[in-house]
Amino acid sequence: MSDGEFVLDTPRVRAFVAGVEAAIAASGSPVEACEAIRPSFADLLDDAEWLPDEYQAPVPESGMGGGIGQWLLYRAGDGSLSLFALVVPAGSATPVHDHLAWGLVGLYRGTQDEEVYADRDGDLELVERRALVPGDFYALIPPQDDIHRVLTTSDEDSISIHLLTNDTGCVWRHAYDPESGERKPFRSGYVNVDCAE
Ligand SMILES: [Fe+2]
Repeated sequence: MSDGEFVLDTPRVRAFVAGVEAAIAASGSPVEACEAIRPSFADLLDDAEWLPDEYQAPVPESGMGGGIGQWLLYRAGDGSLSLFALVVPAGSATPVHDHLAWGLVGLYRGTQDEEVYADRDGDLELVERRALVPGDFYALIPPQDDIHRVLTTSDEDSISIHLLTNDTGCVWRHAYDPESGERKPFRSGYVNVDCAE
């Protein structure tokens, strides 16, 4: 049983989260947990029905800028897990940012280019560029792949689904200037719920 907050409270989301929490509890490492969660995460990305339109909407004046909407769907009561949809409007890009937690990230709608950076003693090095289509997903296990930005390349808004082992919208993480490597405290927030101070 989860004492978490189901913002999107449906049997589909409850069953997914229950499976995830059981997999994490039964796993000895993040790698093992991500492997166990992969099939149900792939199912979620393949299922066109479970995410209501209101969580697929961009948000003018959002905390992320560029009309980007970060919609919380579920979070654990102890801040150990969050599930959210990130809507990046056509032509918009996120800032370069980190996540500070492991989990799974995948594309649900639209297409994105992703740039992955490595922190080399304070300088950022672009280490990978990848083009993502719906259904693509990866296990994010910091520090590997933790610093990135995504740009929507489709005419429609892109929507990615994030399952991460922190309360990602509310923790203080970092945004980076990719040229100088300068990093600043960054808290994205969620558009539909508040963060405790
Ligand atoms: Fe991200």
